[in-house]
Amino acid sequence: MCRIFGITFKNRVFIASGVFGFGLKYKKVSNRVGAIFTKGITLEPRKGNAPPRVFETAGGLINWVGLENPGVEKFCKDILPKMKKLRTKIFVNVAGSEVIHYERIVERIGGQVDGFELNISCPNVKKGGVAFGQDPKIAASVVARARTKTKLPLIVKLTPNFCDPLRIAKACIGAGADGISLINTLYGMVYDIKKKKPLITGGLSGPAIKPFALYCVNRLRGLDVPIIGMGGIMTGQDAYEFLLAGASAVAIGSAILRDPYAPLEIIKELKKYPPPPSSPFKGED
Ligand SMILES: Cc1cc2nc3c(=O)[nH]c(=O)nc-3n(C[C@H](O)[C@H](O)[C@H](O)COP(=O)(O)O)c2cc1C
Repeated sequence: MCRIFGITFKNRVFIASGVFGFGLKYKKVSNRVGAIFTKGITLEPRKGNAPPRVFETAGGLINWVGLENPGVEKFCKDILPKMKKLRTKIFVNVAGSEVIHYERIVERIGGQVDGFELNISCPNVKKGGVAFGQDPKIAASVVARARTKTKLPLIVKLTPNFCDPLRIAKACIGAGADGISLINTLYGMVYDIKKKKPLITGGLSGPAIKPFALYCVNRLRGLDVPIIGMGGIMTGQDAYEFLLAGASAVAIGSAILRDPYAPLEIIKELKKYPPPPSSPFKGED
């Protein structure tokens, strides 16, 4: 057990946004992780991008799912009541193409969940997403406005795509963020050599990005808020490295696409390691 943001979690292994839907299919897994971060929720439903949406590459995958989701209304009416029966903490990943969308989604969901993860780092949408997370002023305004709508923990999910996540993190914390999660996927491209044009431009994830993700988490260590580290975590040792680098918890992403039970193995393996020398972390009780 651990306490972060004033919340008691079963363990420090969470499920990253977008790889497990709403955690309703593999309930045995959902009920044993510390928290689930939902698929990104937007104000209106989104169909997402045309296939192919996922492409395997050396050491990882590139996706351009494009934030397919039912929209906040359907999420609240049909999905959230089922999610609330899970024995884990629920964080809603909030996405928007306008700054105002974030606060409206947070306001609509209200106190029904354990917290929010503001996704200002999605590389697969035409408007908003990563563009908000590359600019400290816009990032801060997304946080400040969402802050006025909730007292629940507000985590901001950052990108290191063509920007310094430390600079953006400081702006978000200044605007009232309770925590930072990183990294979202990195820009990536797959080329179709027959057609001589890109087949997919999307987000790279998986083991290929782990060293960079670890570097980014370590770069943010020492900030005054808890960090949720992710990017290419496949094993308990990977997770432990992120905790050593300064993360208070880790989130499992692409590993789940290969094996939905991967988080359970990671939880088991992590128990073999002693607590990181720096724990308890800042922002923890
Ligand atoms: C298919 C897919 C869909 C994703 N959807 C979201 C999303 O909706 N919101 C979000 O913030 N991150 C999303 N992500 C990013 C992951 O949550 C995670 O930050 C990233 O994949 C890095 O972790 P990993 O290398 O362990 O996968 C998605 C990733 C994948 C592979």
